Amino acid sequence: MRSIGARLALWYAGAATLTLVCLFVAGYYLLQNQLIRGLDLLNKAQFAQIRAHLGEDFGALNAHLIDARIRETSDFSSVLFFITIDDRSGPVRPVFYSTNLRGLPIPDVPGQRVFNAKLPSIGELRVGEFILGPFDVTIATPLNSVRQTMHDYSEICIWMLSVMVAISVGVGFGLSRLALRPVRLIRDTAKHISSDNLSERIPVASVRDEISELAQLLNQMFDRLESAFDQIRRFTADASHELKTPLSLIRLQAEKLLVHGNLDAANEESVHMQLEEIARLSQIIEELLFLSRAEARDIDLHLVEHDPEALLASFSQDAKVLSEHHGLQYVHSHHGTGRVLVEPRWLRRVLLNLLANALNASPPQGTVTLRSMVESGVWRVSLDDQGPGVPEELRERIFERFFRLAATSNIEDNGSGLGLAICRSIISLHGGNIWVENSSGSGLRVIFTMPTAAQGQKKA
Ligand SMILES: Nc1ncnc2c1ncn2[C@@H]1O[C@H](COP(=O)(O)OP(=O)(O)OP(=O)(O)O)[C@@H](O)[C@H]1O
Ligand SMILES: [Mg+2]
Repeated sequence: MRSIGARLALWYAGAATLTLVCLFVAGYYLLQNQLIRGLDLLNKAQFAQIRAHLGEDFGALNAHLIDARIRETSDFSSVLFFITIDDRSGPVRPVFYSTNLRGLPIPDVPGQRVFNAKLPSIGELRVGEFILGPFDVTIATPLNSVRQTMHDYSEICIWMLSVMVAISVGVGFGLSRLALRPVRLIRDTAKHISSDNLSERIPVASVRDEISELAQLLNQMFDRLESAFDQIRRFTADASHELKTPLSLIRLQAEKLLVHGNLDAANEESVHMQLEEIARLSQIIEELLFLSRAEARDIDLHLVEHDPEALLASFSQDAKVLSEHHGLQYVHSHHGTGRVLVEPRWLRRVLLNLLANALNASPPQGTVTLRSMVESGVWRVSLDDQGPGVPEELRERIFERFFRLAATSNIEDNGSGLGLAICRSIISLHGGNIWVENSSGSGLRVIFTMPTAAQGQKKA
């Protein structure tokens, strides 16, 4: 069972029912003993009455007189008592048998004065043996009233147990929901907290208990995480910033060397290579700086309303040239009307990143297709290629920084793995989403969406 609430409810119901069963069983034996002791007292009282009827001279009485003295009392109480009197002064001789015994002897259990016995046509009896001079007086009372009471008691207990199970399951569910409410609150808040949103905290109840302590501990952990993330962001931003100046100086020196260095062909070639690497490094530093700023929401966007069709038409002119340069085809389409709030510079950066990936991945003479559509307040753009695609389990990971798939024959190994991370940052700064899917053909489809101008303003 996956829910703690359900488990708690069932444990509660189980414990409550088991306790009740134990109480009922104990009650059963206590009540039964009490009723049987009551029968023993009745037998004793009947014996006292018989002794009173027989008088002081009972030792000298013969069977006929005994019969005459107690017949009346024994007949009167014949429903309740079965009585036998045996003379044990010599060989055992029956002196009196109450008529309700119909001549049957009451069975004897040697060595016991009170016991249960069973007579064939009469049923179960509670028997008491008493000594009166030479006589053994045996008085028995039917046990069926006790058995009937115990049977009724058991039936009532079973009913009460069934009701108890139903009630305790209900109460258990209610209690567990109540008890686990703070845990649900912790879960819901923890779900919201991500690397972009580390400032949120779990509300801590004023009551000091285990749950509020757990919430406090988690909040302390989030404090530490937030400060660690901040440090990493600051470090990336600071390091990128600090590296820019020395790199520019190195580039200037290398360029100076090219102009005034009187280098031979081999040395000139190596300075050119250095300059290429410096340019690459500068770009990575720029991109890292951009990502740190975007995460810290430290980028000023100058959002202006634009017609997406016009934006894409201008981009597509360059995209076509670039694609042809790679020996590939580029087609684009747009449907729907509406305006979007974007900063064209950043949007162009996203589209160029995506196009560069698609061109790298495409096979020779392949086609790259850009589709754009404005519908229901959303602008949706997708870019399809005919490359090898990306395995399903890696489709989220390619948006991580520096994550690159093992280079395939189609993919030139010259990127830094920051392109898609930057795309995601830019799109998210515009209030949109970006993800990848299978293309309808063999390759990959990258999709981004953002709200149209009216929609975006409504949300704001
Ligand atoms: N259209 C695509 N088809 C196949 N794989 C792709 C495609 N787009 C991206 N990838 C994979 O995702 C990885 C990450 O892409 P990303 O754009 O972030 O980095 P990059 O292109 O390697 O380098 P950069 O863009 O920084 O120059 C790429 O290395 C590539 O392996
Ligand atoms: Mg790229």
